[in-house]
Amino acid sequence: MGKIKIKNYPVGPFPAVLAGADVGGKPNYVTIGACGVVCLKPVLYISLKSTHYTTIGVKENGYFSVNIPSSEMVQKTDYCGIVSGKATDKSMVFASFYDEIGKAPLISECPLNFLCKVVQSVPIFDFEMFFGEIVSAYVNEQCLTDGRPDSLKINPMVIIGNGYFDIGKMVGEVFKEGGNNTLDNKKI
Ligand SMILES: Cc1cc2nc3c(=O)[nH]c(=O)nc-3n(C[C@H](O)[C@H](O)[C@H](O)COP(=O)(O)O)c2cc1C
Repeated sequence: MGKIKIKNYPVGPFPAVLAGADVGGKPNYVTIGACGVVCLKPVLYISLKSTHYTTIGVKENGYFSVNIPSSEMVQKTDYCGIVSGKATDKSMVFASFYDEIGKAPLISECPLNFLCKVVQSVPIFDFEMFFGEIVSAYVNEQCLTDGRPDSLKINPMVIIGNGYFDIGKMVGEVFKEGGNNTLDNKKI
């Protein structure tokens, strides 16, 4: 199979996530693709441009939220990635709620929410990477199946190139699909 070297990277896939922080006493939300799991402690990372309005709030409060929008929220998600809280008040784009810890707003409409306490931050070029320990997590009741979060009901989006995509269907089971030994010693 031939490989073509590409120049316009990164192209994804990245998760479409709304990170939240209080700035000047009001909720502000920013769309990011730079978010993921760091370790099973559990710690998430987000990477924010240093000049973003949200970055001020994360630094001030030492907390941020990670909210997973469902694909029906694509318009509001994109909006928060176009408009800055510096120029436009985004506090009313979503209904916000707070954990008893307070510290960062979470988005009611998003089916999955994490409140994270900053444990470390690393400047990278003109970005700031925040590592946050998850201190609480919430899921919408209607997104549960047999008491567990159901990914197809949560219906998150991934960013690939210029597009937002939903996750379609499940294609395999984690820690099961690769475990039937048929791949052992097989030449790739
Ligand atoms: C799909 C998408 C993904 C984005 N990913 C990031 C990201 O990972 N990190 C970042 O700092 N900005 C990212 N942005 C840009 C910010 O969302 C955008 O500049 C936003 O207006 C900043 O808002 P704020 O100033 O209110 O914090 C992304 C935008 C879009 C549309």
